[in-house]
Amino acid sequence: MDNRPIGVLDSGLGGLTVLKKVIEKMPNESTIFIGDQANMPYGDRSREEIISLTRDSVNFLISKDVKIIIFGCNTATAVAMSTIQKEIPLQIIGVVQSGALAAARTTETKNVAVIGTNATVDSHSYLKEIQYRDPEIKVSEFAQPKLAPLAEEDPDENIKNAVVSESLTPLKNADYDTLVLGCTHYPLLRDEIVAVVGQDKKIVDPADQVAQYTYNVLRRDDLFAESTAPVKHDYYTTGEAKKFTEITRQWMNDDTIVGHHVDAED
Ligand code: DGL
Repeated sequence: MDNRPIGVLDSGLGGLTVLKKVIEKMPNESTIFIGDQANMPYGDRSREEIISLTRDSVNFLISKDVKIIIFGCNTATAVAMSTIQKEIPLQIIGVVQSGALAAARTTETKNVAVIGTNATVDSHSYLKEIQYRDPEIKVSEFAQPKLAPLAEEDPDENIKNAVVSESLTPLKNADYDTLVLGCTHYPLLRDEIVAVVGQDKKIVDPADQVAQYTYNVLRRDDLFAESTAPVKHDYYTTGEAKKFTEITRQWMNDDTIVGHHVDAED
């Protein structure tokens, strides 16, 4: 048994979509979340920058004595995870591997589309991870640099619909039955995305599989918290705490949440 919290990181609010599933799946576990809002979007940054910023958040979570770290960020998983995993003894769980597994299990026509940040798409991580599971699956990847900032800003519905609709235009002629939300910000725009691609497409949110995988790892390594241990969820941002608190309360459906500002590189 291990009562230390689970650490979850992201460049911003997107990681909350993973955290939410983790908490739903494991209500006895405490968590610590950090969103690096001061430096988002990661998707347009260089490999070196993404590794360095992710490392800062990892070190912050380690300073809070977490027992395992979830990269609630596809970009960090695709670009920084293999490097950082070699540097620390704690296990890191990424979102791409889980998303790829879910996509391979979901597609019936063996045609998968993936939307993600520039860095995730450039890495071809989804293509490699999906075809590792089934080489016959055709994977079409589409970079969507506008969508994570859009989800982060949370503008009014008309703007959201217009930007999502324009961004997803290249998918109109694509052949796929399964769409992977390959950026953790995209579930925040799920309704708008479904309105454009249509109800007939199967949507894969890697967060479901990440929560299941984390559960499996905790069970395997005997890392579950004791059922009598107090449960606590802490929220940190490198950005502005007030707005972060507002959106986090809304998304997590919990008005008691108080977000704290932190400089992750401290
Ligand atoms: N939420 C992140 C992801 O899953 C990245 C968004 C960004 O910072 O560009 O890729």
